[in-house]
Amino acid sequence: MFEPLLSYDPGAALKLLPPERIPALKNALNAARDETLNDVEHWQSGLPVPREKQPLDAGFIQWPEELLADLERSGSASLVARLESCGRRLADSADSLVVLGIGGSYMGMRAMFEALRSPVWNEQSRATRGELPRLYFDGWNVDSDQQRALLSLLDERAATFPNSVHGRTAVIVISKSGGTLETAVAYRNFRDLLERRFGTDVVNLIVPVTGESGRLRNLAKASGFPDVFSIPDGIGGRFSVLTSVGLLPAAAAGLNIRALLQGAADMTQHFRTAPFESNLVLQFVAVCHAFEVDLGLTCRILSTWGSKLEAVGLWYDQLLSESLGKHERGATPLTVVNTRDLHSRGQQHQAGRRDKLITNLLPGKPQLPSLTVPSHALDQDLLNQLAGTPLTRILQAAVAGTNQAYADDRRPTADLALPALTEHAIGQLFQMLMLATVVEGRLVGTNPYGQPGVEAYKQNTQANLGLK
Ligand code: PA5
Repeated sequence: MFEPLLSYDPGAALKLLPPERIPALKNALNAARDETLNDVEHWQSGLPVPREKQPLDAGFIQWPEELLADLERSGSASLVARLESCGRRLADSADSLVVLGIGGSYMGMRAMFEALRSPVWNEQSRATRGELPRLYFDGWNVDSDQQRALLSLLDERAATFPNSVHGRTAVIVISKSGGTLETAVAYRNFRDLLERRFGTDVVNLIVPVTGESGRLRNLAKASGFPDVFSIPDGIGGRFSVLTSVGLLPAAAAGLNIRALLQGAADMTQHFRTAPFESNLVLQFVAVCHAFEVDLGLTCRILSTWGSKLEAVGLWYDQLLSESLGKHERGATPLTVVNTRDLHSRGQQHQAGRRDKLITNLLPGKPQLPSLTVPSHALDQDLLNQLAGTPLTRILQAAVAGTNQAYADDRRPTADLALPALTEHAIGQLFQMLMLATVVEGRLVGTNPYGQPGVEAYKQNTQANLGLK
């Protein structure tokens, strides 16, 4: 049974729309939901996809439910159990894990790592990390200094701790197409390091996650890796966070991948069954869409309250941009971290162009006991009046104060609140935002799947390099 742990409150924003506006969207949004769900059935049927619907990557919608059903049915032979066991194997073999990928093959895992693991994870001892590896991300850029710095660090660890888990590095290389230049180049450099340091054992330290065909698949076959995981057809890159793309690194980092999947499955069930008035996905789309078309609010600010959610925001930036930024349309997403960015972008959001809808993403209960303001004999900063006040209380005051300042100037805000940063809540959030993006695409007649606009730069870069 779905428990709506996430909550979406467009209260402050709604006051700025005519009262009849949101209910007026009800029929159109219910139709967009039906279309989104019918697409799943169509996709499952294997019937030809009409031209105007191509590509149709609706597989992510029921995928978490399918994986959980497979786990129930097949136990240790299920994909979830195999991912957990491979994750455990990598965690036991290496103290550093490098995840190589770009775009949808990287941003979701980074979001989970930053939201759910300590901000000083990589600086902690292996014992404090529960015998789990440090995590690094590469292959998402062409930055020689950055890549060399990481390669040198890992090389030095291998030299300092020979024949010990502390000196060992494992690599998960992720590319659905298998031909993305940034990831492929990085893979060569990291594989070279592993081959030089660990010899033939390298096959046990590299796990590819890729599509059923392509260059990385061919490399994986030729290399004889014991584990290779597939990215299913019908799930596009930016919708793939809850496939092996995100789940394998998550399992290696000790995250509870069953809870992630359960959160997403619960959200899908809620999306299917909840009426418009209480449906989180439909309410979210209704508000975003109404402000865009009625009032020209074409900038969507995801205002994350705490840096642990920044990477979730960057994942969402990609999701919205690549899905709806087509045909010279589509709102522009922007992630900010507050209170940090109240001291930079805040001025513009409070007093600049009236083109912004602000959605606060609230992290809920902190993972560790809240710090308080200490009392001190030197009170020249006048902070003894706050002595004993938890920092969480100060954050709440800042959220309320900021919302009030925007409301006083008729600038709309809505709140998307997590109960806490847990796997179950993050699974829900991912699925909610992916569903909302697809529903909005169907509502405005933009195919949310595919990203033809990304191809031109790739082709030009390849041509500039004389690549075949
Ligand atoms: O959403 C998408 O499909 C893209 O962002 C891809 O994830 C990205 O281009 C990486 O592609 P690949 O996994 O094929 O290397």
